[in-house]
Amino acid sequence: MITGSGGMLGRDLLAMLATNGADVVGLRRRELDITDEVAVRAALRDCRPDVVVNCAAWTAVDEAESHEVEAFDVNARGAAHLAAACAHGHRTGQPRLVHMSTDYVFAGDARRPYAEHDVAAPRSVYGRSKLAGERAVLKLLPHTSYVVRTAWLYGVHGPNFVRTMIRLERARPTVDVVDDQRGQPTWTVDVARQIAALVRSRATPGVYHATSSGEATRFEVAREVFRMLGADPARVRATSSSAYVRPAPRPSYSVLGHDAWAAVGVEPIGDWRLALRQALPALTTAELSEVT
Ligand SMILES: NC(=O)c1ccc[n+]([C@@H]2O[C@H](COP(=O)([O-])OP(=O)(O)OC[C@H]3O[C@@H](n4cnc5c(N)ncnc54)[C@H](OP(=O)(O)O)[C@@H]3O)[C@@H](O)[C@H]2O)c1
Repeated sequence: MITGSGGMLGRDLLAMLATNGADVVGLRRRELDITDEVAVRAALRDCRPDVVVNCAAWTAVDEAESHEVEAFDVNARGAAHLAAACAHGHRTGQPRLVHMSTDYVFAGDARRPYAEHDVAAPRSVYGRSKLAGERAVLKLLPHTSYVVRTAWLYGVHGPNFVRTMIRLERARPTVDVVDDQRGQPTWTVDVARQIAALVRSRATPGVYHATSSGEATRFEVAREVFRMLGADPARVRATSSSAYVRPAPRPSYSVLGHDAWAAVGVEPIGDWRLALRQALPALTTAELSEVT
């Protein structure tokens, strides 16, 4: 059972599992609002899932700064409702819960990749609300939950950095992109595969990092997008975050380490450039079909 299955990751996860013949149910927000505790319990009773994947979230990072209560409602309380319902179980068992989280739980000022067990110190309301969700899930389901942190997601569905670069390449002669935020651009399809592998492996419960290998600044990613599109990468110019002040601070360094995968025999996601090359044709088609 996938919650938030109308979102960017949820849609790709649902499609992948359905294509692979899995017995999967996707619930969009209008079908299940995870802030509604009674509805969450009823959904578990009706679906009787073996595994719940929570892709539902308040993801508007800047808006969260002025909507703290609403962000916590979804990201913390909603997650807790799901975990409590899983803990309670249903007629045929107790489902495992895969809960999606984010690099924003970290301070974002490290100089080496964040390990799964590193101390969290979120700098934004969004990050704090996601950390509260992680903690609720791990507390309520210590033996049957996975917290899967991802970052810099892009996919066919929904707005994201890569799709924006595809659009701007066509619309503008030059594009200014920040060169002081370092992370791991990550394809939703890779995360979906990683979730499936995690569930299949019957891995030890706990925290896992589902991000691409390698790292880059936003500027470097944008140049790579231009290059792969056959455009001149020099049209992307470097700028700094101080040129784009936003309500929520952006981490300058949010690379996540992948050590936990080795212990459970699952390969981490591969290099970000490889994924970008595979994903780009479908993203370009999606972007252009919406523009025209
Ligand atoms: N996007 C990224 O770069 C990124 C980075 C790190 C981590 N993550 C995490 O990855 C997960 C998936 O993110 P995403 O990019 O797929 O986000 P998304 O596209 O915004 O999808 C989130 C989905 O959750 C739904 N939702 C919101 N409130 C809900 C509620 N109360 N009950 C049920 N559904 C609700 C949204 O519905 P509406 O559209 O109708 O509001 C939306 O369909 C999230 O946990 C997110 O925090 C994302």
